[in-house]
Parts: sequence; C-alpha cells; structure tokens
Amino acid sequence: MNRTVLGVLVSGRGSNLQAILDAIMAERLKAKIGVVISDTPDALALRRVAGFDIATAVIERRRFADKRAFEQAIARELGLHHVELLVLAGFTRILSGEFISQFAGRIMNIHPALLPAFPGLDAQAQAVDYGVRVSGCTVHFVDEGVDTGPIILQEAVPVLADDDEHALAERILHVEHKLYPRAIGLYCEGRLRIEGRKVIIGEKRQVL
Ligand code: GAR
Repeated sequence: MNRTVLGVLVSGRGSNLQAILDAIMAERLKAKIGVVISDTPDALALRRVAGFDIATAVIERRRFADKRAFEQAIARELGLHHVELLVLAGFTRILSGEFISQFAGRIMNIHPALLPAFPGLDAQAQAVDYGVRVSGCTVHFVDEGVDTGPIILQEAVPVLADDDEHALAERILHVEHKLYPRAIGLYCEGRLRIEGRKVIIGEKRQVL
C-alpha cells in the first residue's frame, strides 16, 4: 500500500509531531513524513526528527517581504516533497485563505479544546477561566476561519476543581497524542469525506 506523504508545520515543542512519528515507527500509522517545516529555527520539533531520514526546512516569516511570499515558500517546499496531507502541529501562524484554498481538504489541525468552544489562543486557559467541567481536543480540517473547519475527531477531558491552565493542558496533550495519529490514519486509509460542515467517516475497507 502506498504511504500518504505528510508535511508537518511546526513552531515549537513538537510533541504532536513526536506522537505522529512514534505511530509511524510502530506501524500504527501507515504514512510517511515527507518534510517538517518550522517557522522558528530553534524549534525543539526540528531536533525530534534529527537522525531520521526526514527532510526539514526552516522558513522564517521575517525573511520575506510579505505573508504571500512566505506562504509561497512553504507551498514550494511542500511541492518539492510531494506532500499530500499538510498537518499543523503547534504551528502558531494563521494561514491565508489563498494558501488554504490551494490545499483544500488536505490540511489538518489539532486544537486543545472541544470546538466550537474556546477557539484561538490559550484555549486551555479560556476553559479554566470559564469554569467548564469538561474540555478536550479536536482534530479538524482547516478552512479559512480560525479553528472553524469540519471536525474529524474529538475527545473529552475532565477539568478538575484545582486545575490551572498548565495542569489542564498536560491532561489534554496526553489525549492529543492519541487522537492526532488516529485522525491522520483515517485520512490515509481514504475514509474521510467532507460534506459541507460534516466529516463522514467511512468503513474500514477489507484489503484482499
Ligand atoms: C498543542 O497543545 C496543540 O493542540 C496546540 O498547541 C500545542 C502544540 O504542542 N495548538 C493550538 O493551540 C492551535 N490553536 P506541540 O508543539 O508539543 O505539539
């Protein structure tokens, strides 16, 4: 079976990238990371793939005159590595509508809240401040809004009485690391179909 080629966009710690890599190494995820692109040169994420046969690229926004040129450089790198699915893993920039439309239905993001609750920055702090009893994480396709795209998978996580944003973030992260490889796996198996706002998950096909 051909492995789907992933491009992973990161900015920092890269623990989700690590979870994806671990799932691939353990053969739980039949995919291949074609390239990891970081917009920050010293991202820990880049060090996580050092020693593997995985291309990396640093593409810094400040090196480009405008956002368009920056995004064109990203798109070029993805093309160079024949990326089929773009995975945002802690990438801190908002991609333009123009970029997203080039990869329509082929960009995934993970967000540390149960969308549509608490989109945007500091989702875990938003949940703690609001006083919800349950939060969680969401894997979704990226559309032109911020954290508004069709939802692929979600999992709930309890918010405990004495949680601060860090304790909650840690509990959610643990679940993120299972959920993201699972969602990517569904895509790689050709089981995801977007119908308007909804993502239909198809049956697992028999391999004869
Ligand atoms: C993760 O918790 C991810 O859900 C969040 O950033 C963290 C990245 O961690 N993403 C967002 O908040 C997107 N709005 P990682 O770099 O260790 O994977």
